[in-house]
Parts: sequence; C-alpha cells; structure tokens
Amino acid sequence: MMRRYRIAVIPGDGIGPEVMSATLPILEAVVEKCGDLDLEFVTLQAGDRAKEELGEALPKETLMGVESCDACLFAAVGRTASEVILPLRQRLDLYANVRPAKVYPNIPTLAKGVDLVLVRENTEDLYRRVGFRERDWGVALRIITWRASERIARYAFELARREGRRRVTSVHKANVLDFTDDIFLEACRRVADGYPEIEYEEMIVDTCAMKLVMNPEHFDVLVTTNIFGDILSDLAAGLVGGLGMTPSGNIGESRAIFEPVHGSAPDIAGKGIANPIAMILSAKMMLEWLGEADAAHQVERGVMRTLREGAPLTPDLGGSAKTWELADAIRRNILE
Ligand code: NAI
Ligand code: MG
Repeated sequence: MMRRYRIAVIPGDGIGPEVMSATLPILEAVVEKCGDLDLEFVTLQAGDRAKEELGEALPKETLMGVESCDACLFAAVGRTASEVILPLRQRLDLYANVRPAKVYPNIPTLAKGVDLVLVRENTEDLYRRVGFRERDWGVALRIITWRASERIARYAFELARREGRRRVTSVHKANVLDFTDDIFLEACRRVADGYPEIEYEEMIVDTCAMKLVMNPEHFDVLVTTNIFGDILSDLAAGLVGGLGMTPSGNIGESRAIFEPVHGSAPDIAGKGIANPIAMILSAKMMLEWLGEADAAHQVERGVMRTLREGAPLTPDLGGSAKTWELADAIRRNILE
C-alpha cells in the first residue's frame, strides 16, 4: 500500500533555498527507490524575503500550511529568524529540540568516534524572556517546571530505547541553581526509573563541557535545559565538522519541523558552495519521525557511502566542490 505524506517546505533566505533544492531531489530518489512511498512538497514562504514581499516574515498562509501538513522541512531564514522560528516552535508546542552530532567518514573533525544525540528542552528556562531591565542592571528568570522537565526526560529515554542507545546523561547546574535544577533532576530520576535497561547519569554542565572536548566518545544521549542545550549543542557540532554537518528536529506531540542548525550564511549565499549535508540529514530525521525507517536509512547510507568513497567536499570541509556536486553524488549513490 502507498504511504503518502504532505511535506511543508520552507526554503527561506540566503543559502536556505540552495541547500533545499539540493535536498528535494535526494528525497525524490528515495521515493523512487522505495516504490511504496509518496511525498508531496508544499512550498511555503517565510523569512526576510517574505517580509519584504508580503509584509510579514511568517505569513498566516505559511503557518496554516505547516499545520495542515504531516511534517515540515525548514532550511534557514536570515535576520527575521526570531520572528519565524520562535513563533513556529511556540505555536506548535515543539518542546524537544533534538540535535545529533556524529562523525562521518573522511570529514575533518576534532573528535573521532562521536555519535551522540543532545535533547534540549525547547519551551522554557531563560528563553521565556521573563525579566526586566533598568538602566544599568537587569533581571532574567530561569523558569523550570516539573511538567516540561518530565516531558523532555521522557523524550530522551524513549529516543534512547528506540535507537538502542545505552546511556542518558542529564546535564544540570543543581549545585548552584538548586531552586530550578533540583526540579529538573528529580523529574529525570523519576523518568529514569522506568527505563532500567538504560544507564542513567548526572553531570554538572561545566564538567560536561570539558568532558565533551576531552572524552566525547563517553556520551550517548544528553538531556538538558534550554540554555545549556543551546550552548552544548553548538559545542557538539564543532566536534563533528561544524554547522554544515549538523541537522536538528523541533518535535512536539504530533507535529515537527526539521532544520539544519545553521542560518542563512549571507557570507557564502549565492556562490553555490554551501554544504547540503546538514539539510539532507534533517530530511533523514524527518523520515525517521514519520515512521519511514527504511527511507531514512537510504538517506543515511547514501551520505555514508558517498563520504566513504571520498566524495567531492564543499569548502567548509576543506574541499572545493559545489553544493550540487556533493548532493548529486549522494543522490546517485541512493539510486544505485
Ligand atoms: P550561520 O549559520 O548562517 O553562519 C555561520 C558561519 O557558518 C558562516 O561563516 C557560514 O558561511 C557558515 N555556514 C553555515 N552553514 C553552512 C553550510 N551549510 N555550509 C557551509 N558553511 C556554512 O550563522 P550567522 O552568520 O550567525 O547568521 C546568519 C543569518 O542567519 C542571521 O541573519 C541569523 O539571524 C540567521 N540564522 C537563522 C537561523 C535559522 O533559520 N534557524 C539559525 C541561525 C541564524
Ligand atoms: Mg544556537
């Protein structure tokens, strides 16, 4: 039986449309290969150009379009990022920000053998932006609730179980920020009790930062609060080849948006040299989330084989290839 999905596609600004048009043919190759899968792409506008042309960075039609589709692929937007991504996350209650960091073959990286997933709480903490500023001082509140902590911990353990991962590390600063982080830790411990087959450990955020650099192979799944997750996930991205290599998912109960971690990269936009892999791996995460494990595996295998063969790499990875050369090599490997 044919399985059909409608996918909202937001190319956005700068290198966004470049990496998106490199990725859609790869999804089409996967569809062709699978035979029983159908993807309908619904292109929607958002970002700086949408704001110029339509007066709004996130037009109502785009929001409604995303809500009516089965999943959303988002490339990158420019200056208007906070007017687009934050409302989308809030409106759709995308509480889990999932950021894998994995070393791929022949990619120049700091670390070897890293294959971790960082699960970042996406709705509260300092990002609620509760506070105020006087002329020469300001206050910002770190809001942590049992509900959000429990929900993100459960997401992390479910992910570990689903992917056959062995350990969950809960990252906190309860030694100083005990008002908030004791709640986060209690929720993590409570959830951990329900997953006896998965090892559970706790680590203070500063120790974690050091250990991620010195011994990154130690880590498997990390779960943490919003701001620590923001910082540590970029650290993890830096270990595995940078922004061109790191995909992400913003995941809620029934909706999700998948996007590369990078932005619109105005410094290289229009040159055709953006690394498409972060976008391609975001599409892989989307297929996984849709329950299309086989299709997701085809993408992963295509990327793996292409890199193992010594594919033409884009300049961020030390090569001189164009976006389309790398993407086309992956597409051909999938069709083979
Ligand atoms: P950025 O991620 O766009 O670029 C940072 C650096 O990484 C640049 O030197 C860029 O050339 C490089 N880079 C990023 N992606 C790459 C890729 N796929 N291949 C090769 N090199 C890549 O971050 P930046 O410069 O801080 O922000 C630029 C614009 O993007 C800003 O207007 C910002 O608001 C927006 N932005 C949007 C995001 C989103 O749409 N989710 C996220 C982050 C920033
Ligand atoms: Mg960030």
